[in-house]
Amino acid sequence: MAAKTGKAKKSIETIAVLTSGGDAPGMNAAIRAVVRRAIANGLKVKGIKKGYQGLLDEEIIEMDNHSVSDTIGRGGTILGTARCLEFHEEEGVKRGAEICKKHGIDGVIVIGGDGSYRGAQALARHGINTVGVPGTIDLDISCTEYTIGFDTAINTAMEAIDKVRDTSTSHERCSVIEVMGRHAGYIALWCGIATGADDLLLPEKYDYDEQRIINNIIDNRKLGKTHHLIINAEGIGHSTSMARRIEAATGIETRATILGYLQRGGNPTCKDRVYATTMGAYAADILTEGKSNRVVCYRNGEFIDDDIEEALAMQKTISDYQYEIAKTIQ
Ligand code: F6P
Repeated sequence: MAAKTGKAKKSIETIAVLTSGGDAPGMNAAIRAVVRRAIANGLKVKGIKKGYQGLLDEEIIEMDNHSVSDTIGRGGTILGTARCLEFHEEEGVKRGAEICKKHGIDGVIVIGGDGSYRGAQALARHGINTVGVPGTIDLDISCTEYTIGFDTAINTAMEAIDKVRDTSTSHERCSVIEVMGRHAGYIALWCGIATGADDLLLPEKYDYDEQRIINNIIDNRKLGKTHHLIINAEGIGHSTSMARRIEAATGIETRATILGYLQRGGNPTCKDRVYATTMGAYAADILTEGKSNRVVCYRNGEFIDDDIEEALAMQKTISDYQYEIAKTIQ
């Protein structure tokens, strides 16, 4: 990555940063980097609270180096976040752009998922320079191999699954453990591999053949396995009723555990702090240069930026090879 420090162009004097959509550990590290890097680049920085909703409600605060002290290791987002339906409408975006102009905001850095990128893209059409930074625990943004929060979420989930596995083994039970990921199975895939799960149910791959899972449990029991761990992604869901059906069909006690929002919280891992910091600083740099309608990505070992339009059009798929490995070494 080329060094991108230097004086701000005349046209960009003040930028703002917001977090949008589901929160993710590491968002604070990114906010901190945006603020401090932009100030180092000679810009003024504002914070928009509660995502696009906060923009429409004009919840805009001044930020300086001190406003982000002691935040790099904190989970959640100090700016707050929200999902804003009004910003899906042209009228809402137009009002958002007018509010930016009223507050002297020339550019906005949006930390969030691809839904949040659409808001950034829309703002750019109304003359506000925008840069997106990938912030979601789901890893479901096509243009990047890293999203802020994924590393922390999978480590949190992995530790929780290890604990369930202990009790599952003691009682010789079968466990259905549901992890987050409404449309994407990356958390399930990584946690499944990391905990040696016996079955992985991913929205991208699952064929809804429950009999196959039941046969697998019965076969494993005959081979002497004392527990059976099924990692189920939220996108498939229904873990409690699935556990009931499995117990009825196999005669083996089966419990469901839904990990839920604990996966979104907690102190970010070292990787999330470092990558989020790099991406936040990178976003500040390219906004300083006057770029707009860009997203920061991590691909092939490098931090780069892409056009939002192209980034949103990319397709992301679960690696068949990794999925195959997970299944063959259960
Ligand atoms: O942040 C991503 C995610 O955690 C998904 O995995 C999940 O489906 C969704 O957010 C739930 O978000 P909420 O309930 O906060 O709207």
